[in-house]
This record gives sequence, structure tokens and C-alpha cells, in this order.
Amino acid sequence: MMPLPEDFENCVAGLLEITEDIEGYLAEREVRFMTLLAACPTGRGEILEIGSFKGKSTIVLAKGASLTKEATVVAVDPLIPKSTIDPSPEGDDPWFRDFQSNLRNAGVEKQVEFHRMSSAELAETWNRDIKLLWIDGDHTYAAVKSDLEMFRPFLSDGAIVAMHDVLNVFEGPIRVFTEDVLLSSNFGPAGLCGSIGWSQYLKDPESTSKFRRQKARLYRKLNTLIPYSALGKGAGRVPRIWHKILRSRVPHSDVEPVRWLSSVTPEDSQERQGSTP
Ligand SMILES: C[S@@+](CC[C@H](N)C(=O)[O-])C[C@H]1O[C@@H](n2cnc3c(N)ncnc32)[C@H](O)[C@@H]1O
Repeated sequence: MMPLPEDFENCVAGLLEITEDIEGYLAEREVRFMTLLAACPTGRGEILEIGSFKGKSTIVLAKGASLTKEATVVAVDPLIPKSTIDPSPEGDDPWFRDFQSNLRNAGVEKQVEFHRMSSAELAETWNRDIKLLWIDGDHTYAAVKSDLEMFRPFLSDGAIVAMHDVLNVFEGPIRVFTEDVLLSSNFGPAGLCGSIGWSQYLKDPESTSKFRRQKARLYRKLNTLIPYSALGKGAGRVPRIWHKILRSRVPHSDVEPVRWLSSVTPEDSQERQGSTP
């Protein structure tokens, strides 16, 4: 099993401080988990972030990755505020300006290969392996589904797919995670940390069979929530409190790093290294 980098806890502590004042939507436990994902790669290739906003998750991924030999993060976002199509004629471009200065202040500017375009535009020329695919762009069902479909062919064996807002009110993340990830025989270990749904991509469907029961349990819990996200208020007479109760039944607590590493390390490699599963 891959060891947890010595500096992991220091890195998380530093990140919580650095990102505290950056506008964004990551909870503390999610920052910690994303640092783990970047610091402990389970496949080979790139870390690809879809949806950067002000750079909060970009910085977390880059700092986590700097604990490894390959510290680069590829990020894609058109960074166009919804109210306007183009930056103003005066050249004021607040989203991009904030994104750049946040990265610079965090000292990760040089580590980030940023593509200012949509994920679909990037996918037209993409040809690299991916070890971590972080989906946090357009949250509609069609967009999240196509983000996964466009980049799935490039996932290396053992890669992690993680998507944000699975337990939030958006339709896309919960449906795609539940239907396209959990029901796929190419995804093995899976879970949630906060609102981040994650799973490990394994090329050989045989190797995912022992995770079927775990995935099915999670599927049943998440599936009951889909109508609330998909239909919103139109979901009808069921009180909001019932949605909250159903959501609280989905396990999404803090991830313990060493246990997580053990769950995403194939047993044969654990046996080779003489570690206990
Ligand atoms: C929820 S925010 C991302 C938050 C960021 N990951 C963080 O943790 O701070 C969603 C971002 O997705 C971007 N976005 C929307 N559609 C996109 C697309 N088709 N491709 C890439 N990014 C997109 C938006 O511009 C916005 O910045």
C-alpha cells in the first residue's frame, strides 16, 4: 500500500489557512479529502479539474500534488460570469483576475496548466491519460454526463473520478454518480466525503466484482434522493425534512486517509508489499 506522505497533515493545515478566504464551495473535510486524492495518486497520467471558479479546488489539488513527483494540475474553465458573454471593453475580467491572483498568492501558478475554455472544447484535442478526474463544472445532468463520457476513455487503470455536489440540490452530479458510476462494472471502491462522490476506475470488470454489494448499498440510498434534485420543488407533497432525513442516511463522513489508501490498493499489490488489507 502506498504510504501517506509525511507532510500530508501539514499540507492540509496550510491549505485550510490559504483557502479560508477564497470564495468557493469546498467544506473543510472536502479540502482534506481532495488533498489526499492529489497527494496519493492511484493511477498514472494527469490530474484534470473541470470547473475552477476562483481557484480554491485548483490550489488544493496543486498543493496536494506537490507532495508527489508530478506536481502539475490541468484545469479547464471558461470563467465567464453568467451575466455576460465577454469581459467588459475596459478589460475588466474579474473572475480570471481573481483566479490568477489566488493561484499566485498560493504559490502554485506555475504548477497549473490552465485552459480558458469549456470542457467540451478541451476534450476535442485531449489525448493524455488521466489519474484523477475532478468534475465540478456545469452541474446540469447533460453536462456532468458528457464531462464523464468525454474523459472516461482516458482514465488510466486505478484512476479516481470525483465529482462535487452529489448531495446538493443539482440534478447532474447525483444522477451521474449514481447511475453512470455506481452501476458501471468498471468502477470499484466508491464512497462520499461531504458532497464529493468518488470511485476508482478499474479496467478489468472482474476486479470490481467484490465491490458490488458496497456500491449497491450506496446506490439504493442515493437513488431515493434523485427525484428531489431532478424535480426540485415539483417533487411534490413530501416535506423537505424528509429529503434531509434521506440525505443523512447516506454515509458521507470524513475519510480516514490510511483506510482509504488501503481500499484503493489492489490486494495483489498489498500482498506483494506484505501489508495487511
Ligand atoms: C462550482 S464552480 C467550481 C468551483 C471550484 N471547483 C471550487 O471548488 O472552488 C463551477 C465552475 O464551472 C465552470 N464551468 C461551467 N461550465 C463549464 C464547462 N462547460 N466547462 C468547464 N467549466 C465550466 C464555471 O465557470 C464555474 O467557474
